[in-house]
Amino acid sequence: DQLFDYFLWIIIFSLVIGYYFVVPIGGADMPVVIALLNSFSGLAAAATGFVIQNDALIISGALVGASGIILTNIMCKGMNRTIWNVLFVGIKVSTSTAEGVQKTAKSYEPEDTVVIFENAKQVIIVPGYGMAVAQAQHMCHELEKILEEKSVTVKYAIHPVAGRMPGHMNVLLAEANVAYDKLYDLDQINPEFEQTDVALVIGANDVVNPAARHDKSSPIYGMPILDVDKSQTVFVLKRSMNFGYAGIDNELFYKDNTIMIFGDAKDTVSRLVAELK
Ligand code: TAP
Repeated sequence: DQLFDYFLWIIIFSLVIGYYFVVPIGGADMPVVIALLNSFSGLAAAATGFVIQNDALIISGALVGASGIILTNIMCKGMNRTIWNVLFVGIKVSTSTAEGVQKTAKSYEPEDTVVIFENAKQVIIVPGYGMAVAQAQHMCHELEKILEEKSVTVKYAIHPVAGRMPGHMNVLLAEANVAYDKLYDLDQINPEFEQTDVALVIGANDVVNPAARHDKSSPIYGMPILDVDKSQTVFVLKRSMNFGYAGIDNELFYKDNTIMIFGDAKDTVSRLVAELK
């Protein structure tokens, strides 16, 4: 009877701790916390395995525990934040947008860009959260096929924290039957941007913000980014000049070699495909 009492208190205590542990976590930090909790569940299973002397439980629990913590670590590194920061601090949102400098971004209609695509040797597609929102992955694959018919090399650059969960872009592109060997990690693709004619940024924002490389006051300073600004022309497909997850402006949009194409990403890519056809 007393054991039952203990057990009940432990359950109530755990529920309260669990609730207060996750309630302050910002929406997009949730995948990191889920990976961490997953890892804890593995450790709990392994501990149970020791108690009931079950080897299978110890081994599988240890595997879940280890992989969860590795994934948590990869995501934190990709965002250049510590796990402590994710759990207890949250992301700093920059509120000072007024710099007293008038900045202008160029914008084209999709149809105006066709000549640039047709004359390109290599195009690198950089997907981000906006591609997921627009569900533009199938259209991206269509675009890739048409460009390849025109002898353009097409590659995809995958940032480790593009989107809102680990492997978000890989899953979407796999669903659209994009060949796995066309997807390149940050380290593999970054040296290539300098020899690339067109970087096509589809709904990505923070992961291509050059401020991360040099602006010490930026909340994303130090985060590894995809160096799209080094390619000859950068097309950025998004609906407006709105910020991404980090809540900061992106200097990429105002660069001389950047052209914005405003609109829903799926719509824009479809118009591009139709025109290229
Ligand atoms: P974000 O920086 O969040 O930017 C996404 C952009 O997509 C927005 O600026 C938005 O601009 C655009 N967009 C939204 N809907 C669209 C649509 N229908 N058509 C076209 N564009 C659309 O995305 P990112 O570059 O992928 O970066 C991910 C961010 O999430 C990083 O800051 C990362 O640290 C954070 N994060 C990632 C993860 C994982 S594991 N992936 C976990 C936690 C946090 P408009 O509104 O102007 O269209």
